Amino acid sequence: MNVLFAASEAYPLVKTGGLADVAGHLPIALNQQGAEVTLVLPGYGQVLENYPAPVMAHVETWSGYALLRETFLPDSALRVWLVDHPIFKHRIGNPYVDAKGHEWHDNAQAFALFSHVVAKVLAGHSAARSDYDLVHCHDWQTGLLPAYLQQESVDLPVVFTIHNLAYQGVYSPHVRHEIHLHDRFWHMGGVEFHGLLSFMKSGLVFADKITTVSPSYAEEIKTETFGYGLAGLLRARAKDLSGIINGIDTEIWNPAKDPLIAANYSLDTLDDKRLNKLALQRELGLPEDEEVLLLGHVGRMVEQKGVDVILDALEGLFELPVQLAIVGTGAAHLEQGVRAARAEWPERLGAHLGYDERLAHLLEAGADVFLMPSRFEPCGLNQMYSQVYGTLPLVNPTGGLRDTVVDASLQAIADGTGSGFHLEGLSPAHLVKKVGDALGLYRDTGNWRRTQGNAMRKDFSWANSARQYLSLYQTLSKSAE
Ligand code: ADP
Ligand code: GLC
Repeated sequence: MNVLFAASEAYPLVKTGGLADVAGHLPIALNQQGAEVTLVLPGYGQVLENYPAPVMAHVETWSGYALLRETFLPDSALRVWLVDHPIFKHRIGNPYVDAKGHEWHDNAQAFALFSHVVAKVLAGHSAARSDYDLVHCHDWQTGLLPAYLQQESVDLPVVFTIHNLAYQGVYSPHVRHEIHLHDRFWHMGGVEFHGLLSFMKSGLVFADKITTVSPSYAEEIKTETFGYGLAGLLRARAKDLSGIINGIDTEIWNPAKDPLIAANYSLDTLDDKRLNKLALQRELGLPEDEEVLLLGHVGRMVEQKGVDVILDALEGLFELPVQLAIVGTGAAHLEQGVRAARAEWPERLGAHLGYDERLAHLLEAGADVFLMPSRFEPCGLNQMYSQVYGTLPLVNPTGGLRDTVVDASLQAIADGTGSGFHLEGLSPAHLVKKVGDALGLYRDTGNWRRTQGNAMRKDFSWANSARQYLSLYQTLSKSAE
């Protein structure tokens, strides 16, 4: 089965979050199970510089030609197409926002153009192959693709995956003329969303199947709280909506051979994990102390992730014998909050405010407990990385966090499932209380080790998710025959 996978980021070419991990790994897992996936991405300036790729086709757009370049994902046989057009050139650093965190002014035009080019290729309007059986698109950036496919009279089944419903790509209605979107899509049952043009809604309306990245989130988004205005539509499409949990790359995220950490370890050599703790403390300027409970957090600093809840809990947290290490970047006020707190508690809080893949690995290896008080979490990857690193995740049980972390009650520890901590409410007080419980377990060495073992033995590999996507693809290609 030939599948065209369209996304706006993919590891290691360009990454701002978990979407890149999915787009960089799921296609490889699908190929291992017999699919033939081509990944198509926008050719951002930096990507083209770092990954030179020969031109193999030209595609006419409403603004000159786009060049379709072909390469392979590093260290893999996964074919990657890059859509090279001037509109992507200036997107240096982050594809969606500038250095100040403001959306690029032409995001609508850029991602519409990307989808339009892909639709034209599939319609056979270029020298590139177009014999695909199915298109799999991801998040709002590719939401217009199913509409453009209809516009180009391409009759292919489309799967649309929601990675985060909070980002919808909603723009002024006039944009639709600039992006050559046919007026027949402009109605309430189409791309129109309260008088505006919604890329996400287009994906949800025109795709044959909708998936999201955990079974719990698939349920949550049908409620007003998590549905961000689209719950009604999602309820109407409930029979086509399902949740498939993401996997993780167990080659890259493997404490036994991770080259980015200070000391490798496995379940049998778990004592060596402490060397990573010492290295992390050293790097972040914290007192080196093997005994103290080291809390960690890595993530985009946005409302979703609950960094504010962590900051508001610091006073209470630091009454306990714990340290906290943070690696993240994002909203200026949250970064500022971390800076101020570091100045106030330099012996307790260490932080790196930036994007740093190596430090993220070291933190996963060095921390004892990983904090994820997310307000919502479609899937979340760090809680899975944490578990395979024997770092117990302390999570708000929502979305994928609920589906991948089992609360370590004594019963669940004993039966081999307990692998982390579930908050009983999302507030600073609840966070302090749960860290207190974690500290209690930490002092009970036998049960702590047992819980680490439960976590480290879990199988989060992509093969399982890939199998579920393949069976979904198969239902569609059959019904398309
Ligand atoms: P989201 O996609 O909502 O950001 P996920 O948990 O799915 O959340 O994925 C986040 C990914 O981005 C993880 O691989 C995480 O390690 C990585 N990440 C986020 N912020 C940073 C950072 N500042 N430095 C390094 N890696 C980061
Ligand atoms: C989104 C979500 C995150 C998920 C990731 C990959 O960015 O916020 O929870 O893990 O996509 O699907």
